[in-house]
Amino acid sequence: MSHIATRRDFIRRTLKIGAVATAGVAGAAGVASLRPQPLFAETPKTFEWPWPYTKLDPEMGRKLGHDSYWSGKGCSYAGFHGIAGLLREAVGEPYTSLPSEIMIYGHGGGVGWGVLCGAINGPAALISLVCEKKVTDVLVSELFGWYTQTPLPTDLANQYGVEKKYGVNKFDQAIPACASGSPLCHVSSSTWCNENGEEITCLQRMERCARLTGDSVAHAIQLLNAHFDGTFKSTFVMPESTATCNSCHGANGEKVDALTKMNCLQCHEDHNKS
Ligand code: HEC
Ligand code: HEC
Repeated sequence: MSHIATRRDFIRRTLKIGAVATAGVAGAAGVASLRPQPLFAETPKTFEWPWPYTKLDPEMGRKLGHDSYWSGKGCSYAGFHGIAGLLREAVGEPYTSLPSEIMIYGHGGGVGWGVLCGAINGPAALISLVCEKKVTDVLVSELFGWYTQTPLPTDLANQYGVEKKYGVNKFDQAIPACASGSPLCHVSSSTWCNENGEEITCLQRMERCARLTGDSVAHAIQLLNAHFDGTFKSTFVMPESTATCNSCHGANGEKVDALTKMNCLQCHEDHNKS
């Protein structure tokens, strides 16, 4: 194929894309048609951050979060959609135009890297969408802290499972709860498997993730509701050992070289003990 033919082919294809992009308004205008055409198009409405929030029902979120886990789009999508889906109903735009699929990458702790648990990654993103940074920092830290210390799934999540109250009921028994001490996907799921002698690929482990996704959605909604009601109070208390390590290694310590709120002893020895 000659150079010119290839080039022509390219232009033809470009025009086609341009025509689609502007709904055929100015398809013949060449490359300029790639730009949005203000002539007939309505000026798109823009929404300033933070986006509007309205109080939601945590139990609807617990169920939607759980069921969305089984959508095939992963835990992080589910954690986000558990709240965003309710806001679509309650508020409409801009939520109607925001695909919850933006959070797909978070599944398996980041496309299977086992890092930040997607069940809290999703709701944390939603919190950042509706709260100023200062508030986000507080609420998300509270959510992560709660996740590390709460035996998951909660009794309520198990009860819905046993009573088949979810929209998707893959497993109708209670799942042993486990507090992993970590916001890491890998630590959470492997600790649960160790404690229960289960394989990480088993249905119960997946249903645990589904239920704790619902739990995380419900908890995030409770935090948001409380914040917007002006009644939020932090209840997370960092383990004493971690606080001690941080008193030297953390932001205000004598040897500032570790900026994390994770439980140090899951990965390090205590060098002050021997
Ligand atoms: C009283 C202050 C203090 C406390 C408390 C403390 N550290 Fe340290 N830590 C230090 C200092 C100072 C060093 C550097 C020692 C050296 O270089 O020999 C150090 C070194 C380390 C190192 C090795 C890194 C390096 O630079 O060689 C690790 C890892 C570490 N600490 C983790 C912890 C953990 C985990 C805890 C809590 C269980 C903890 N530390 C508590 C002061 C402290
Ligand atoms: C998920 C595992 C994990 C957790 C949790 C964790 N660390 Fe680490 N940390 C590491 C790894 C891996 C390194 C790099 C290898 C090393 O130095 O041991 C490291 C390095 C360090 C170092 C050495 C830094 C340097 O400059 O040499 C310090 C100090 C340290 N961590 C302190 C802490 C403290 C304090 C906490 C808790 C507040 C903590 N770590 C939590 C895994 C972890």
